[in-house]
Amino acid sequence: MSLDLPARQEAAPGPARAAIKARTLRQDRWWLQPLIIAVGFAAFVVYATWAAFNHPIVAGTAHRIYYAHPYLSPFFSPCFVKGCPPQADWAQIDAPQWISPAIYILIFPLAFRATCYYYRKAYYRSFWLSPPACAVAEPHGSYSGETRFPLVLNNIHRYAWYCAMICAGILTWDAVLGFNFDGHFGIGVGSLILAVNAVLILGYTLGCHSCRHITAGRLNHFSKHPLRYRMWTFVSKLNNKHMQWAWASLIWIVVADGYIRLVSNGTFHDFHHVF
Ligand code: FES
Repeated sequence: MSLDLPARQEAAPGPARAAIKARTLRQDRWWLQPLIIAVGFAAFVVYATWAAFNHPIVAGTAHRIYYAHPYLSPFFSPCFVKGCPPQADWAQIDAPQWISPAIYILIFPLAFRATCYYYRKAYYRSFWLSPPACAVAEPHGSYSGETRFPLVLNNIHRYAWYCAMICAGILTWDAVLGFNFDGHFGIGVGSLILAVNAVLILGYTLGCHSCRHITAGRLNHFSKHPLRYRMWTFVSKLNNKHMQWAWASLIWIVVADGYIRLVSNGTFHDFHHVF
C-alpha cells in the first residue's frame, strides 16, 4: 500500500520533538563550527567591502591600487570602465570615476556564492541558527524554508552558475596574462598566485551541485552517454570536496587581492623572472 504525502504526515506519530527542556543533549563543542564560520564570513564581507570601495590611484603612478603590472586583482575583473589598466581591460566605458569598477561585477560572484548549497547550509546555521547544528533545537517558532522572499531567491542558483562560469573563464585569462611581461613570458610570485586563484575558482565552480545536474541530470542510461558520464564523474569528485573548494577559493581571493595591493603600493617587490 502506498501513502501520499499528506497521509504520511498525518500518520507521523507524536510531536515533532521529544519533550525535553534542554536545547540539546549534545555534550561536544557543537557551537564551535558555526562560530568559526560566522567569524570567517564576517571577516570576508568586511574585507571585500573595503577592497571594493578602496581603489585610489597610487601616488606617483598612473595606475590604480588593484593593478600591479601584469597582475589584476580578482575583485576588479573583468575591468571594463574608463581608468581600468589598458593591459587588462575589456573596454573603456565612460563611467563615473568615483564608482569602483568592482561594484559593476561583484553582483555575479555574490549571487553565485550566496545561493550555493554549501554556503546556504553554513550561513543558515551560523547566522540564522536554523538549526545551529545537528540535534540542536533552533530558536525559531516557525519555518517557511525557501518559499518566501528573500530566501526564495536562492532558486536562481542554476542561472548564477552560468554567470560564474564566465567569470571563472575571465579569471583564468587573467592568470594567463599574469605570465605576460610586456610581451615576454615570465613567472613571478603574482603569476603563481593568480594561477592558483584560477584553479581554485574553477574547482569550486565546476564542483557545483548544479553542474552535476547539467552534466548528467535526467539521463536514464550512463552507458549510452559515456562522455557525459565521464564529465559527471569528474564533477562529482570535485563536488565531494565542495566545502573545501568553497573556503579555499574564498580565502585565496583575499590573498591575491592583498598581494597585488601591496606590490602596487610598493610595500612588496614582486620577485619574477622573464625568459
Ligand atoms: S552548490 Fe555550491 S556553487 Fe553550486
